[in-house]
Amino acid sequence: MKYDFDTPINRYNTGSVKWDLAEHIFGKKKLLPMWVADMDFRSPQPVLDALAERARHGIFGYTACTPSYYEATINWFKKHHNWTIRQEWISYTPGIVPAISLLIQTFTDPGDKVLLQLPVYYPFMEAIRHNGRHPLNNPLQVHKNYYSMDFDDLEKKAADPAARMMILCSPHNPVGRVWTRAELQRVADICRAHDILVVSDEIHCDLVLGDKKHTPFATLSEECERNSITCTSASKTFNLAGLQTANVMIPDPHKRRAFQKSLRRNGISGPNSFGAVALEASYRQGEEWIEQLLGYLRSNLAFLKEYLTANLPRVGIIEPEATYLVWLDFRKYGIDAQQRRRMLLDAGIALDNGFIFGEEDGSGFERINIACPRSILKEGLEKIAAAFAPYTP
Ligand SMILES: Cc1ncc(COP(=O)(O)O)c(C=O)c1O
Repeated sequence: MKYDFDTPINRYNTGSVKWDLAEHIFGKKKLLPMWVADMDFRSPQPVLDALAERARHGIFGYTACTPSYYEATINWFKKHHNWTIRQEWISYTPGIVPAISLLIQTFTDPGDKVLLQLPVYYPFMEAIRHNGRHPLNNPLQVHKNYYSMDFDDLEKKAADPAARMMILCSPHNPVGRVWTRAELQRVADICRAHDILVVSDEIHCDLVLGDKKHTPFATLSEECERNSITCTSASKTFNLAGLQTANVMIPDPHKRRAFQKSLRRNGISGPNSFGAVALEASYRQGEEWIEQLLGYLRSNLAFLKEYLTANLPRVGIIEPEATYLVWLDFRKYGIDAQQRRRMLLDAGIALDNGFIFGEEDGSGFERINIACPRSILKEGLEKIAAAFAPYTP
């Protein structure tokens, strides 16, 4: 079927964090919300049908991950990422953010250091700090609107005896990189040499916009398989974040047992009845939708580039190789981050302000979510242009 991504859908009064909470969070009324990484699109029709059928059944007792749930997951990763996963590797968790906290608790001790690459998805930093560990930043480098890793710095930081874990964001939010095999291999070599466990958050793996291919970290080698834990979810791909269902893949049996013990200690067992149904239906029948979605996102990205180049040529566009999030560089304006935030809010738009992704590494930037109908994107870009009109030659 042909999906309609163009018609705006009213999301107010659904408890939407992005729409209903924007006023409370940003302290301003009538904001166009282009922050938070979820999409303003309905999930694939087969997913909606499967959920409706489950709702009609009417009994929502304790639920387990069925053989069919595992099979759908395994088949998806085999087909789309050429990754052979065994069923026993998979642990259900109610999201990747809680999984990351549990992984930190399980595999590091208070006072240990956890490597991460700022600017990065800010809940990583929060999970490290809230658990009494210390973030160890291996900052990404940006050159001509393109980000890369600093391996010399990583080598130095990884040699710190307190460093125990690295949280890798692959593909990377917010800079949109799809890391190459060669880059991932260097991370693997450095981490292996210093006995650092790699937690690879691959939630954005299906949202590749360019022609690069996502490489699951665990597929680099058997050694990487043993020395890594991969966080996956259908929630970004198919817009199911509110159903709180994720899978953590742990090939190494010792690590797996340790993690499963943590899950039990925290009372996490079966999935949400709807989350399990939605994940399975997405992985089994969501292909047609995701193909069309990626086409729509690519044209939204082209629209954004054209608009900003014509109207705000001083904004640097970090073109995402993956994700529906675009990292915009406002440093040429020389405006302080708080002032820029106020200007944007006054113009009626809520973006994710770059400093939340890393005060030093992100404060000259803003992140915009382009997973919305083109008309909303256009309105948002016009608001950004209006905010910067006094500074535009
Ligand atoms: C890199 C990354 N990890 C995890 C999440 C959220 O995962 P979950 O909703 O499963 O906790 C996001 C959401 O934007 C993300 O970008």
